[in-house]
Formats: sequence, structure tokens, C-alpha cells
Amino acid sequence: MRINIDELQNITHQEAGKFEETRFEKIHNVIFSSSYEGSLVVAKEIADLIKKKQAKKQPCILGLATGSSPIRVYEELVRMHHEEGLSFTNVITFNLDEYYPMDRYNIQSYHYFMHEHLFNHIDILPENIHIPDGKVSPEELYQYCIDYEMKIKSYGGLDFQLLGIGRTGHIGFNEPGSHFNSGTRSITLDHVTRADAAPAFLGIDNVPRKAITMGIGTIRNAKRIVLLAWGSKKAGIIKKSIEGEITPQIPATYLQEHNNVTFVLDDDAASELTRVKTPWLVTSCHWTESLKLKAVVWLSEFLDKSILKLTDKDYNDNGMSGLLTEEGTAYDLNIKMFNKMQHTITGWPGGKPNADDSNRPERAFPASKRVIIFSPHPDDDVISMGGTFDRLIEQGHEVHVAYQTSGNIAVSDEEALKFAEIAHNLNPSDQISSIIRFLKNKKESDIDTVEVRQLKAHIRRSESLGATRYLGLKDTNVHFLDLPFYETGTIKKANLSEADIEIMVNLIDAIKPHQIYAAGDLADPHGTHRVCLNALTSAIDALKDKDYMNDCWVWLYRGAWHEWESYEIEMAVPMSPDQVLRKRRAIFHHQSQKDGVMFQGEDSREFWVRAEDRNLLTAKKYNALGLADYAAIEAFKRYYF
Ligand code: F6R
Repeated sequence: MRINIDELQNITHQEAGKFEETRFEKIHNVIFSSSYEGSLVVAKEIADLIKKKQAKKQPCILGLATGSSPIRVYEELVRMHHEEGLSFTNVITFNLDEYYPMDRYNIQSYHYFMHEHLFNHIDILPENIHIPDGKVSPEELYQYCIDYEMKIKSYGGLDFQLLGIGRTGHIGFNEPGSHFNSGTRSITLDHVTRADAAPAFLGIDNVPRKAITMGIGTIRNAKRIVLLAWGSKKAGIIKKSIEGEITPQIPATYLQEHNNVTFVLDDDAASELTRVKTPWLVTSCHWTESLKLKAVVWLSEFLDKSILKLTDKDYNDNGMSGLLTEEGTAYDLNIKMFNKMQHTITGWPGGKPNADDSNRPERAFPASKRVIIFSPHPDDDVISMGGTFDRLIEQGHEVHVAYQTSGNIAVSDEEALKFAEIAHNLNPSDQISSIIRFLKNKKESDIDTVEVRQLKAHIRRSESLGATRYLGLKDTNVHFLDLPFYETGTIKKANLSEADIEIMVNLIDAIKPHQIYAAGDLADPHGTHRVCLNALTSAIDALKDKDYMNDCWVWLYRGAWHEWESYEIEMAVPMSPDQVLRKRRAIFHHQSQKDGVMFQGEDSREFWVRAEDRNLLTAKKYNALGLADYAAIEAFKRYYF
């Protein structure tokens, strides 16, 4: 079910149950095409509740969450306060949780987060704000939690509870194993939760092991609950929470028993729900060409049979009889879909000169194209599309690479010190001495000075040039954009501004490309890749009326984390074993990102291993569909504007 912004509040739990598509679903949910749209609706629901209570001269008791998910909701509430006069004087808030131990002035504290994103910008009375105190002594902690719980009760419970969801299925910090009736208490954080928080704390070792959290019972007593989930990282846990059985192993499943809860999702977070992923299993479908391909590829993978071996019975047994009725027989449908996949494969990513291009992913003309590869960090180019990059140069295209951010925060202090000391030994200077002094005395919470950031950026520049020179690209075709949004010196980035977009616009306008490659990873809605893509799409918007943009095709690759689904791929560039090796060597030039990088995430494989595993997997998947057996494949999806 897709709905408009204004419809959310009109669709009650019961009404949602009437939709046939929700057959497997046990929690009311609504899906928006972006986290932005969803956030506006939720902010409006909160604002309406505050106003309704105001009209009745009653306090409005809100349970609030932190993390990346609610940020837009808070932004919108702040906007409503400034522009529409929304007042918070009758609002009393209780935050879900806080790390323990944690000083409220620490920038990682939820206390700091809430003031930074909401409380400092609205007219809430300070005495009405309640956030668990991460500095309570261990002796007092037990009683402190009981008092927090009682305080909520003393106001008659929460009118509205806003939630995010962790990849463990936690709500608040109620990790797997939490009891249905649990109250506010201290809890030990799950490893996955700590790994997810690691980038913000500059490493998992700095993430507190414990937290204070409202319990499942506390949350369940709220009169209304709205849970937000954005991005494909949440898709798996959202499916389990909405469609799975109630289990303490996934605390969010407890919400199935609440009678006034809505999950607000974006397309990516909803992507694993049965009605989204395999709608033919729950409803009769409107069979668009892309849905047909998705269904046939799914069936082939599900039955572990190549496309050309699928039978009428296979289709009929798996909810696709409607598709067969439209297409005739399995035989006709199989050939049509097999050819579609076949036509995505090309060894000529810039188009094959003088060839019939009617069934090729790229145009033959012009034979030599101007190409810009946008790389969010100074290594995504070779990690994600090193093989294609290599071919584009080898096949005579004018290739430019543009590193959108400096990537400076991902260089460790040890690495920076090494280079500073080398520079100092060659040519001592006050500037280098001060960098060395800073690095040697740096404390955990210190933000790098501008000079240290510059040094770190230079390290990444030199590494990038090593890789691009190895691939045979002239230095003059390498552009370091250093987009300003990234230059905060911390994980938290500034908002994208006109200055960022202008830099992108100027480069595109100077080169007038026929092809643009860019990172299309959208797994993390606030991540650098997402912001870099937003910078590109805004630049394209600004330029789209220029003649040369009619001739410009945009191809999206995915970064180190995951790959396009097979049915989404519109260009598949195969690599031979030798080409795989060349790609590996290009990645090796990024030495500061090797052997225990700062932002490893949960996956302990190095970037070159991840890249190879992923390209090998894509090749295997193509082969399993019945297509040729390649050593590796890089995959792209076209972005239409
Ligand atoms: C935050 C909280 C957590 C987060 C969850 C998702 O107060 O209690 O349950 O909501 O970890 O975090 P994000 O939104 O950062 O993905």
C-alpha cells in the first residue's frame, strides 16, 4: 500500500488489515519514497497531538528517541516552531535511553543530541525535559531507574512514543532477551549495536558497554507508538519484526500486540516485506516490464534453476499464473527475460565503436566519450568500479575522476604521525612540529586541527594518485573536490549547501560529460555516499536544460557494502582473472585504508577482499541464471533524470 502524506493518520490499524497485500503483516505500516516525506508526516502527527492537548489545556507527554532515524522529524518540529508558531510549553518529554556511563556534556551523549537537534531550538521548559542521567552512581542506579519509571506513570503515561529500531531488533536499548514486561533499567549493549555506534565514537572500543533504557513494558504502555526505519540496512529486521513470530530475540516483535502502533518506512527499509519483495505471493500484480524481470530472476534463484529451465508449473506454483496468462508460455517468457539479462553484459562500458548498439547498455556514438567518475571517498572509484575504470581508459575515453570528499577522518593518527615525522626529518618547520605535538598529545575527544586534517587529506590524495597513475590516468584528469559539507573534522557532517552543489556543477559544466558514474549506495540515509549522491542529483537538476546533458548518461555503482540485485542491473561489465588482479593492485595503493582501517564496520574483510568477493558473487549469480561463466562482474544501474 502506498499512501500520500496526509493519509497516514486516516489509516487505522484495523483498516490496514483489510488490504489483501498485508496478509503476512502483523504490524500496521506505511511506506514512503523517502525518509524526508515520512518524517514530515510523523512531525505533523506530533504537532497535531500537541495542539489538541493545548486546546484542552492538558500536558502532552512525549517519549522521544535519538539516533539517525528521528533527526528529520526534529528538524521539522523546529521549523514548525519557528515558522508556524508551534509552542512546546505544554510538552513534557521522556527520552528512551542514554549510554552508561556517559557525561551529559560529551558530544556522544543522548543528552547532547537532544539539545542539539531539538530542545535548544524550541520553547520547551527545561524542567519538562527528562533524559536518563548517564552519570548516576552505580549504587543509585537501580533506584534511579524505578524513579524514572514512576515519574512517567505520575503523568499518566506516555501519550506518544517515537522509536527507531536497531539491527538487533532493539527498541530503546532493549536488546534481544528483554522481557515483555521490563521497566526502565540498565542493560548491556549487544555487540551489533556497539558496532553500529562505533563510527560516531571513532572505534568500537570507545563505545560504552552499557546503557539505561526504558523497558518494553514502559514503551508498550504508551497510548500511541510510531517507529521509524530508513534505509536498506534496516530491511531485514523490519521484515522479521512485522512478519515474524513474537520473540524476545527480536524485541520489536512485541509491538505486534500493541493496538495503536505504526511503522513508518522508506522504500529501502520496506524492501524485504513480502508484499514489496515478492508481491506475486500475496496479490495479483500489475505486471510492468521491470516487475516481470524481478519475478523471473527471483523464481530462478528461488528454485535454483537457470531461467531457460523454468516451466509453466514453476510459474503457476509460485503465484505467477497471472504473468503466464499475459505472456503466453513459460518458454516465451523465459527467452524474453534471458535476453534482457544477456543484453546487460558488455566489455565496452563506454559503448562499442561502430557496433549495432540496439541491444547494448551503452551507445556506440561518440566512439570516444568524456567520462566523469565521481567517488565519494578517495578510494570508492577503484573499490567499486576499478575494472570498468581500467577499461574506459584502455578503450580510449577521456576519463576524469572526481573525489568528492577529502576522506581525512579515515586516516589514523599513527599514519598521520608517520608522514609528519618523515616531513620533519627532511625539512623541519614550525608547522610540522605543531602537527607532531598535537598528534602525540591528542586525547580521545579532541577534534583534529585544520593542519592535521590537511595532512590527512594529503595522504589520501597521494594514495589516490598512486592508484590513478597505476591505471594510466593523467594527473590533470584527477579532481579533488573537498566538498565543504564533509570538513567538520568529526563523523557528524554539515548539511549539504549551495557551495557543495556549485563545485559539482562547475566540474560537470567544464567537462560536459557523456557519461557520469557515481556511488548509488543508499544503505545509510545520513551517510557520506548518500549526501554525495544528493550533491550530484542537485547538480544535475541545475544543469539538465543544457544541451550536453541530453547526451549524458548517469550510471550508479554500489560501494564496498553491497551490490545491486541481479534484476536491477542494467550494465554488467565482466572481468578476466588478470583484470581482477589489476583492480586489486589499484586498491592496494590506498594504504591508509588497509590492515585494520578505522571504519571497518562489522565486516572484518579488507576492502579489496570485499570488492573481489562481491564481483565474484555477481558473476556466479549471472552464471546460475544461465548466462556465461565469468571470473567477476562489476554492476551498474542507470539513473534517469
Ligand atoms: C535511540 C534508541 C535506539 C535507536 C536505534 C536506531 O534513542 O533507543 O533504539 O532508535 O538504535 O538507531 P538509528 O536511528 O541511528 O539507526
